[in-house]
Amino acid sequence: MSRLVVVSNRVALPAKGKQASGGLTTGIFDALRDTGGIWFGWSGEIAGKQAAEPKVTKADGLTYATVDLPRKDYEGYYNGFSNAALWPLFHYRLDLMSFTREDFAAYQRVNTLFADALISMLHPDDLVWVHDYHLIPMAENLRRAGAKQRIGFFLHTPFPSFGVLAALPHYDSLLESLCAYDLVGFQTNEDLTAFHEAVCRGASGAVLPDGRIRAFGRTFRAGVFPIGVDPDAIAEMAVPAVKSRTLRRFEEGIRNRQLIIGVDRLDYSKGLEHRFKAFACFLERYPENRGRVRFLQIATATRSNVPEYRALRQRLGALAGDIAGRFSELDWTPMQYLNRSFSHRSLCGFLRISRIALVTPLRDGMNLVAKEYVAAQDPGDPGVLILSPFAGAAYELDGAIIANPYDPDAVAEALQMAAQMTLDERCERWRAMMMILRRNNITAWRENFLRALGETRSQLS
Ligand code: G6P
Repeated sequence: MSRLVVVSNRVALPAKGKQASGGLTTGIFDALRDTGGIWFGWSGEIAGKQAAEPKVTKADGLTYATVDLPRKDYEGYYNGFSNAALWPLFHYRLDLMSFTREDFAAYQRVNTLFADALISMLHPDDLVWVHDYHLIPMAENLRRAGAKQRIGFFLHTPFPSFGVLAALPHYDSLLESLCAYDLVGFQTNEDLTAFHEAVCRGASGAVLPDGRIRAFGRTFRAGVFPIGVDPDAIAEMAVPAVKSRTLRRFEEGIRNRQLIIGVDRLDYSKGLEHRFKAFACFLERYPENRGRVRFLQIATATRSNVPEYRALRQRLGALAGDIAGRFSELDWTPMQYLNRSFSHRSLCGFLRISRIALVTPLRDGMNLVAKEYVAAQDPGDPGVLILSPFAGAAYELDGAIIANPYDPDAVAEALQMAAQMTLDERCERWRAMMMILRRNNITAWRENFLRALGETRSQLS
């Protein structure tokens, strides 16, 4: 069995478990341990002076290798090109995209630095799996440094249509970087189709009859690998979480009202402003729900050094205040808006006790909260998922009520339908979604990707 080497910007270092992006951690942990693998990436630290070697930590049967980011490049690589240019671009927010050549240069430098630090740790038959938009040029840099291993890439975000992608200066350089992999994985068919179009129109490449792609003098594969969750582990976590003191105290305050929940990073792609306005529209159009529901929105602050995130936080605070002021009664408040984070266990508990989940991003690669909500439900009394058609999860979860987040009336109608849905219908929808979650679970995602990568042959070997 080939050793697995995972490369991602965030690494779930044992002492800093909170740093990991949840899906990735649970998804690859077992595979790393089984193959004695390495998890390589940013240490989360910023250094004045760059250390030549990665810091190696061994724990839980696997090796973590991390590098500090040079102070001068952190800003341009992380806050700049990754999160102020690529993130908005990949989420169709050209209005928020901020590109500078300096940021792009810092992004390239950090990717070179990561590749140079990783190359000496690689064994000849390793499988290298690079994750997400921060590290698109990794394979190209590793190859330049002599790597002959099979290298795969998985994009956790959407891949935009060519008309949008082409707005990014040097988009062709990014396409060339993607074409240096042996396998490029996307969340949905829409993302893959957009990539095909970009390769054909933006790089004069071609999709061959067997599905392989030829561009920039290389032939490689691209495919769809929707990321999943471990539904049984989530259910196991949710059941006892409901009995915890935090949850019990919260439930006392709810007093049998129907709980509507949203759990998101505080990010403009999540459509939180639209969601808040839709909730107000629901209370306006269906006043019989006043006093009977409570909307709990957990929105954990993130990337607060990027100006747009700070501005969004202010706007959301004001909007939540407006809604509370407009609809609250002496003995009832319509919504609770929290900027803090909770343990994964508590979140699973909150999801379980919620009668309705609002997962209404304007764009989302997958959205694992949608899947976790379904997995956390009580099979005898499951809640209802309201899902945006612009989340990757909507391609799989056909038992959800699909509502366009840009239409407040549509979301309000979905809320009303969910609030009134019979137990029979809730159970039927839930069972259909659980079947899909079990089939496309996190292990299937990882195994399908790694099998497909293992079946490719590096062009350089
Ligand atoms: C998204 C990205 C991940 C990222 C996570 C948290 O899910 O796809 O790559 O790690 O957001 O964002 P942060 O900027 O805190 O790493």
